Amino acid sequence: MSVRILQFGTTGQVARELLRQAPSYDLAITALSRAEVDFADPEAAAAAVEQARPELVIVAAAYTAVDQAETDRELAYTVNAETPAAIAQAAARAGAAVVHFSTDYVFAGDKPEPYREDDPTGPLSVYGATKLAGELAVVASCPRALVLRTSWVVSAHGRNFVKTMLRLAREGQPLRVVDDQFGRPTAAADLAGFVLSQAPRLAGTPSGGPVFGVHHFANAGETSWRGFAQGVLALAMGPAAPQVAPIATAERPAPARRPLRGTLDTGKLERTFGVTPRPWRDAVAEIVAELAAQPQASAA
Ligand SMILES: NC(=O)c1ccc[n+]([C@@H]2O[C@H](COP(=O)([O-])OP(=O)(O)OC[C@H]3O[C@@H](n4cnc5c(N)ncnc54)[C@H](OP(=O)(O)O)[C@@H]3O)[C@@H](O)[C@H]2O)c1
Repeated sequence: MSVRILQFGTTGQVARELLRQAPSYDLAITALSRAEVDFADPEAAAAAVEQARPELVIVAAAYTAVDQAETDRELAYTVNAETPAAIAQAAARAGAAVVHFSTDYVFAGDKPEPYREDDPTGPLSVYGATKLAGELAVVASCPRALVLRTSWVVSAHGRNFVKTMLRLAREGQPLRVVDDQFGRPTAAADLAGFVLSQAPRLAGTPSGGPVFGVHHFANAGETSWRGFAQGVLALAMGPAAPQVAPIATAERPAPARRPLRGTLDTGKLERTFGVTPRPWRDAVAEIVAELAAQPQASAA
């Protein structure tokens, strides 16, 4: 029987991929946009869970403007922590499981090896701090919550690094990209496909099951932002790809500090779910192909 899912968020990268792929699974998804439930209002979000009585709630809305959050703390905290907490409490009361997304920005980025789930956190930004508060609150509020930390999310829609690099290259602008921040690019499509494929298991697992708690999901392979840019351009333009000059983080000051190495270890996910995320180049090749097939979509 189809799993009844309530999804918050319809327009974000991950939200769109969830909705796009859902018809391939035996799932009944109701998705609520910001106009239907604004995350500035935790009670409205909790009421939506109570009304829908889902078996699984997916929280795909978040305050993701990393730099803006530095001066918009209160709203970022409400959207990323208070409302997810209220949703998780309502889900626990309704007997629903929860999938919530978090970020590598909960870490300080000074660990020489990839981060594991139980490594100490140390967010450098308001965004990272609000996401950390959110994941802690969700796990504390609902014993059947899966928190998926992910990183460097890209897709064929919305504003993201892949589209920005392709646009700059198309415009013939000189490309200078940070080469001292490292992480794992992740296709929203892969993350969404993982969540949907696990929905029946999540909905059917009682509290205490290994599928709950914090797990890391990121495509395989560590790179710098410059390496990522070079990979994207090579996939899109082959030998005609323009050069990408390396710069240091210090040369591109931004309001929010980013971890220098937020690389996530996905071993726990692989052990718990038997799923190994594919290399980021394979996932990004599909995004580049999708954008090439819809030139108007790559204009953002
Ligand atoms: N993007 C990344 O690189 C990245 C990296 C690590 C982790 N994550 C996490 O992954 C998850 C999904 O990210 P994403 O890339 O899909 O995000 P995204 O593309 O930036 O989309 C954010 C979504 O949240 C919605 N939203 C923002 N403020 C809202 C509010 N007050 N009320 C209701 N909805 C609101 C947006 O709606 P509108 O369209 O109406 O603004 C949009 O649908 C988030 O939890 C994020 O923190 C993302």
